[in-house]
Amino acid sequence: MPTSSLSLNPVQIIVKKRDGGEHTREELRAFIDGFVRGEIPDYQVAAWAMAVYFQGMTPRETTELTLAMAESGDTLDPHSGLPPGTRVVDKHSSGGVGDKTSLVVGPVVASYGLPVGKMSGRGLSYTGGTIDKLESIPGWTAELSEARFRRQLQEVGLVIAAQTANLAPADKQLYALRDVTGTVPSIPLIASSIMSKKLAVQADALVLDVKCGRGAFMETLDQAQALGQLMVAIGQGAGRDVTALITQMEQPLGRAVGNALEVREAIETLQGQGPADFVELVEHVAGEMLYLGNRAPDPQAGAQMARQALQDGRAWAKFREFVAAQGGDVGYVDAPERLPTAPLQVPVTAETDGVVHRVDARAVGLAVVHLGGGRTRKGQAVDHRVGVMVQAKVGDPVAAGDLLCVVHGADEASVQEASDRLKAAYTLAPEPTPGLPVLLKRLGGR
Ligand code: URA
Repeated sequence: MPTSSLSLNPVQIIVKKRDGGEHTREELRAFIDGFVRGEIPDYQVAAWAMAVYFQGMTPRETTELTLAMAESGDTLDPHSGLPPGTRVVDKHSSGGVGDKTSLVVGPVVASYGLPVGKMSGRGLSYTGGTIDKLESIPGWTAELSEARFRRQLQEVGLVIAAQTANLAPADKQLYALRDVTGTVPSIPLIASSIMSKKLAVQADALVLDVKCGRGAFMETLDQAQALGQLMVAIGQGAGRDVTALITQMEQPLGRAVGNALEVREAIETLQGQGPADFVELVEHVAGEMLYLGNRAPDPQAGAQMARQALQDGRAWAKFREFVAAQGGDVGYVDAPERLPTAPLQVPVTAETDGVVHRVDARAVGLAVVHLGGGRTRKGQAVDHRVGVMVQAKVGDPVAAGDLLCVVHGADEASVQEASDRLKAAYTLAPEPTPGLPVLLKRLGGR
């Protein structure tokens, strides 16, 4: 049935992609606009997303799709109200398990006077989302008006907001649909999703944390590089400085996976007590942001500044200020044991002696979704209390009976199932194996 704005029937667009055709700019614009206006229903867009998943898109189509989504609603210029010439730097992660990086990187970078105004998302499939995590803090809100966003950026220098309804609304709608239709891990859909939001907020520079491994949508280095290169090309084509860091996501990042647990770990890290792999990632991402924001002469010097900010308390002070500015009760971050806590905390132990060769990050992420920490239906509420604390990581020797991880759950049945999944997520072997590197590759930059 033709819609008011489409000269093509949406079915023809689906069929064209299903059969491996290349969309024109006009087709993509009409399809995206029709979806945003509610003229094309979810089921047709889901079918099209599945066709894209199987058939892919050319870089030209991906760029056109990105621009159509970026321009599907309002854009936000974060510079207005800031001193002339101020650079604004943004970051984005392609999604991982235990990835609480924005909670720490934002305050680190902002503590050096480099404004960070960030639109973040909710959990997607087995990966967590920054907004879901921060909503573990009672009172904290991600729903900010544009005026409030700007005021906070001027006054605090750090804002993490949900995508406002009218900022890249096409991505907002498509993201929620992909989450529940098995169409997340598609390079063109991820690239256009991330870059549409990033281009709609007109920062000067962007650091992309492209996750690679079992807990990421890109499992191989080749796929992650392809995604990174595509996003760098889209961003540079739009006049931004863009760096993509390809980073480890074979095993969960840090130890905490699950919303409130991750907030606690972010707080520990901001207080100089973070797990080594997470701290290293924070240093790389923040270092790159400080470099692109002209606060550091090179990324290495930026990483050193980040280390300093975690040690001397300035990043922690900025985090408190940010939480309060967005309505959060600082009493909870000052005493993180008051954050939502699961009633059951059950250890999972090693059955044999050995060395940890693998902690399957996806299996851990799915266990947390099963516990209620993520969504299986569009719009579902998440349980902030639940999750997993990963104790043994790749390279660690363990003896039979030693702790592998702790399940934080709401009821016996879900804890039992999560424990079984987590046991299966661990691979132990007799021979030693090294720990996993954090940074795999750097692309783009300037
Ligand atoms: N993050 C996004 O913003 N979009 C995706 O599609 C995947 C990860």
